[in-house]
Amino acid sequence: MFNVSNLTVSVEDKEILKNFSIDVGPGEVHAIMGPNGSGKSTLAHVCAGKEDYTVLNGEVLLNDENLLDLDPDARSTRGLFLAFQYPIEIPGVTTMTFLKSSLEAHYKANGKEVLSTPDFMKLVREKAAELNIDDDMIRRPLNVGFSGGEKKRNEILQMALLDPKICILDETDSGLDIDALRLVAEGVNKLRSESRSFVVITHYQRLLDYIKPDYVHIMYKGKIIETGDSTLALDLEKSGYNNYIK
Ligand SMILES: Nc1ncnc2c1ncn2[C@@H]1O[C@H](COP(=O)(O)OP(=O)(O)OP(=O)(O)O)[C@@H](O)[C@H]1O
Ligand SMILES: [Mg+2]
Repeated sequence: MFNVSNLTVSVEDKEILKNFSIDVGPGEVHAIMGPNGSGKSTLAHVCAGKEDYTVLNGEVLLNDENLLDLDPDARSTRGLFLAFQYPIEIPGVTTMTFLKSSLEAHYKANGKEVLSTPDFMKLVREKAAELNIDDDMIRRPLNVGFSGGEKKRNEILQMALLDPKICILDETDSGLDIDALRLVAEGVNKLRSESRSFVVITHYQRLLDYIKPDYVHIMYKGKIIETGDSTLALDLEKSGYNNYIK
């Protein structure tokens, strides 16, 4: 389904990802944990097609197609979604306009008829209500002045609308209050299906109480150094990274 193999990436001549590999099967949830600076966000950005990175080796396959050959928008319409660690503010573009343009681009790229404005509004309001996002927020410029938690919920709203096949969530739990964490986790759990997989990057096992991962990986210095089940996250919380970093 989603296979990253031997990915080696540098930024300004410094290797950040070193032969990184992960295989995510259909419907699976993989958690990636790891100390600050181990390359988790870099991995997410390279998969999504952010510039500034030099890919020296490797592949990122989504259903056997190498995403590295595609522009960021094509990666998105093929079914990759990235919820940013730091969502970007776009002054002058309302959240509603942004969501509508993205959804229309997806529908067009996949040969689907675009929704009428009333149908679109209805869909957004439904999905937003599930995430406790009010209409007022959707009318404001994208992420501008949103609280940290509002930005994160807004990322999940985009994900719910775009119906992706592989979702990478980069520290979506950071900055969420207890209720918002539960809402976001419920949002994710509702989207779990046989045809959709998740890579959840997080520092805290707390999120994994709500979103039960099939696998937990520890990433360090640009690669995975340990893989286990959800008990690995519990163990990490207790003893820290020292036992794994040699
Ligand atoms: N554009 C860049 N220019 C220079 N160095 C960079 C750039 N992007 C990333 N790096 C470096 O790459 C390393 C990995 O960064 P990355 O953001 O991927 O880590 P992370 O695992 O997501 O950390 P955190 O847990 O703090 O979010 C860091 O040392 C960072 O300084
Ligand atoms: Mg990061």
